[in-house]
Amino acid sequence: MGKLSVLILGFNKSQLLMLKNYILPLNAGIVHALSGDEGIAIAGQGRVDLIFSNMTLPDMDGIDLCRQLKSTLATQAPPVVLLGASETDRAVARGFEAGAAAYVEKKEAKFQLVEIARDLLAKHAFRREKLILVVDDSTSVRRMLMHGLQDEGFRVIGAENGKAALELFNREAPDLILLDICMPEMNGVELCERLNADSVFSTIPIMVMSTKSDMGNVKRMMQYGAVSYILKPFDLEQLILRLEKIFAYQFQIQAREKERLDTEHHLLVSGLASLANALEARDQYTLGHSERVGAIISGLVRLSGGTREEMARAGIGGKLHDIGKIGIRDHVLLKPGSLTNEEFEYIKQHPGMGANILKSIPRISDLIPIVESHHERMDGKGYPRGLKGSQIPLWARMAAVADTYDALTSSRPYRKGMAREKALQIIEEAKGSQLCPDCVALFFQWYGEEGQSFQADHERTAETMVSPPVQIPAL
Ligand SMILES: [Fe+2]
Repeated sequence: MGKLSVLILGFNKSQLLMLKNYILPLNAGIVHALSGDEGIAIAGQGRVDLIFSNMTLPDMDGIDLCRQLKSTLATQAPPVVLLGASETDRAVARGFEAGAAAYVEKKEAKFQLVEIARDLLAKHAFRREKLILVVDDSTSVRRMLMHGLQDEGFRVIGAENGKAALELFNREAPDLILLDICMPEMNGVELCERLNADSVFSTIPIMVMSTKSDMGNVKRMMQYGAVSYILKPFDLEQLILRLEKIFAYQFQIQAREKERLDTEHHLLVSGLASLANALEARDQYTLGHSERVGAIISGLVRLSGGTREEMARAGIGGKLHDIGKIGIRDHVLLKPGSLTNEEFEYIKQHPGMGANILKSIPRISDLIPIVESHHERMDGKGYPRGLKGSQIPLWARMAAVADTYDALTSSRPYRKGMAREKALQIIEEAKGSQLCPDCVALFFQWYGEEGQSFQADHERTAETMVSPPVQIPAL
């Protein structure tokens, strides 16, 4: 999303400066105009997210401004906040009737504007996300509702009966259904019953549009999961208020559910990270390896243009990359000397074992490629699947570079960690055959920025052992 754009209408220079100060926390781009006409023309260009207008403008008042803005498709989207000085209740009410989203006393602006703006923008964004399905056999009612709701910022689709509505569900499920009762082919009661029996669609809130004489059917529909009803004839304002209530309730439930899932996810990932640490504690020489691999991958993702979220995810993936070694028996995993062919074949199972551990947890499925493919090679000679080049997922190619570098520079019982320069040279030479050239380039960039201090930390804790080998570690 681009920078927020706010249009301020009808204030002199010193007032404008003050308003700008009040709304600094919004970090918005600000456009200023003096007259209503000028403001309407700017809003018509479609790049305004929010309008703050003085109740008194040189060519019209704030109420006229709202009326004109809301009467045209090109200018009706941005919410309008009217700023006045002791306006009468009647004038404020007329402002709202004309389409204002909020009214603020100028003397309160300092304390209220930012919070009101944030609320309005969140509501606006929320409405744009919501898809409402209007099911009514009357073309005029359907059209009136669809237009009205669209004007209020919702996305809307329509169907002339229950059967047509069900067909629409194959393309996109709505977030709410406004449902008439008497319709040909499939009436509202039948549609409610069908949706209620469906495990996916039964959670979609339904609001019944009913006449007083049809309360029997309404009660039946409530039994089938309808959440609310509204008596015809109703006006749009009434309807929107009801919709907002339903969405707000849904929003609360979703927010609570998200919080619960986030906590669960956090506990799960911490549990797995502890497991990875426990794994490393079996062998003091690999202590901290997963943590360092995670930090390097996270750095590479940042340099490749990844978001903070992606950096964090890839970092967790790095920490868990060898989680499958938990299933490898000590006498092989901790064997100080070289491995027999049989032992090597056995240890080659650890990426698959790790992937199997993570597969049972759907929310970290994006980390599986790191765990499963960090021993694949660009020339196809890696394991477990012998993937080649770009067949290897990007994060796994990054993990391979990070894993190799850290393994080279870490001490083992039978050798001392390799000098950095030597390790960097080996990484360079492995480009194209073992390691991905793009990831190696990113690695050198990362090393230039963070590698020195990172490595110094690592070496401070390293132990002095015997002399380094030259070959790239296989594990
Ligand atoms: Fe590994």
